[in-house]
Amino acid sequence: MLKLNVNLDKRSYPIYIETDFSGLGKACLSARLSGKLVVITDGNVEKYYLDECSRQLSDTGFEVFRYVIPAGEKNKNLDTVRGIYGYLAGLKLDRQAALIALGGGVTGDITGFAAATYLRGISFIQVPTTLLAQADSSVGGKVGVDFEGHKNIIGSFYQPRFVYIDVNTLRTLPVRELRSGLAEVIKHGLILDGDFYEYIDYNMKKIFTFDDNVLQYLAKMNCTIKGSVVEQDEKEGGLRAILNFGHTFGHAVETVSDFALAHGECVSVGIAGACRLAQRLEMIDGNIVQKITGTLDKAGLPIKLTGFDVEKVYETMFHDKKVKGGKLNFVLPKGIGEVIQCSLDDEKLIKAVLSELLV
Ligand code: NAD
Ligand code: GLY
Repeated sequence: MLKLNVNLDKRSYPIYIETDFSGLGKACLSARLSGKLVVITDGNVEKYYLDECSRQLSDTGFEVFRYVIPAGEKNKNLDTVRGIYGYLAGLKLDRQAALIALGGGVTGDITGFAAATYLRGISFIQVPTTLLAQADSSVGGKVGVDFEGHKNIIGSFYQPRFVYIDVNTLRTLPVRELRSGLAEVIKHGLILDGDFYEYIDYNMKKIFTFDDNVLQYLAKMNCTIKGSVVEQDEKEGGLRAILNFGHTFGHAVETVSDFALAHGECVSVGIAGACRLAQRLEMIDGNIVQKITGTLDKAGLPIKLTGFDVEKVYETMFHDKKVKGGKLNFVLPKGIGEVIQCSLDDEKLIKAVLSELLV
């Protein structure tokens, strides 16, 4: 077992990196939880892990309830949150209760949002079961939902009481979802840690064969990198925005695809776009762009897409939280392991990059 800590004064919390669920109940006791626990999961994760998680918690003495939400980004909306509120109200929960998000980033974002708003805030715990959620979304407290086609525009910052990662849950993950998570993993290396990027590139095969040591090292490095950024800038006043590397193009593509593409697939195309933009601005050489897109390709991630309209994606980029004063904010690479933030309003340049991505 590995234990890390995210240091945020009174909102500090541990991240446990484990190879099964046997420590989950003890982790709840260590967090001094004492009320009812409601495990929220989606229809896919339910069949693999809901019974085992609930059993671990009830064996520790907790009163456990379970609520299953429909899977998929299309359900990351206020209707699903309303369903959760209805269930919680029916249980007559008090403020000692806690919600446990068992699942991927969609379940984590929705459950965290419900916890942040129910009774003006009850505790929640992240038990991420996708690579994307173990690497990124379960840490840092961004919770929320999509609204009328706009990605993540309703939400809050609300930190979990702890994060419990069982890396072996990745074994049941569809390979497309494993790949999608790798986009955020590669992102972490590219923005802050060139050695970690090289490690990912070198160990790609072992990731796909679920090598325990490699998976635990990935979890440790991802949570360390993300945790340290969040510690420095919890509410994205500045530095934290570097975690949006690949997201300016990526979120727009995700929205235009009507969420047919996985989040990480869109981030991958977005990273390729940010690299091509940086190359056109003469910030990085073509051989670095090739190396990075080569790694994404090796992970089975898209670096170009067909069937997208450049004008539509360009226009959608402006419906984003990252727009300031009519300018688009980008995170661009200066090399491997180093990025800068900048705002641009060069329509011709941005559309030229989009034309390279959306062939
Ligand atoms: P997801 O939660 O939809 O999970 C992907 C699919 O895998 C789903 O069908 C799910 O049912 C299934 N699944 C999950 N775990 C499984 C397992 N162990 N075995 C079998 N199937 C399993 O998607 P995701 O990729 O985990 O997360 C994407 C979401 O995360 C997006 O909404 C994105 O906006 C959000 N996100 C949030 C943050 C944040 O900081 N809060 C950061 C990055 C991404
Ligand atoms: N995934 C971006 C963030 O957590 O800030």
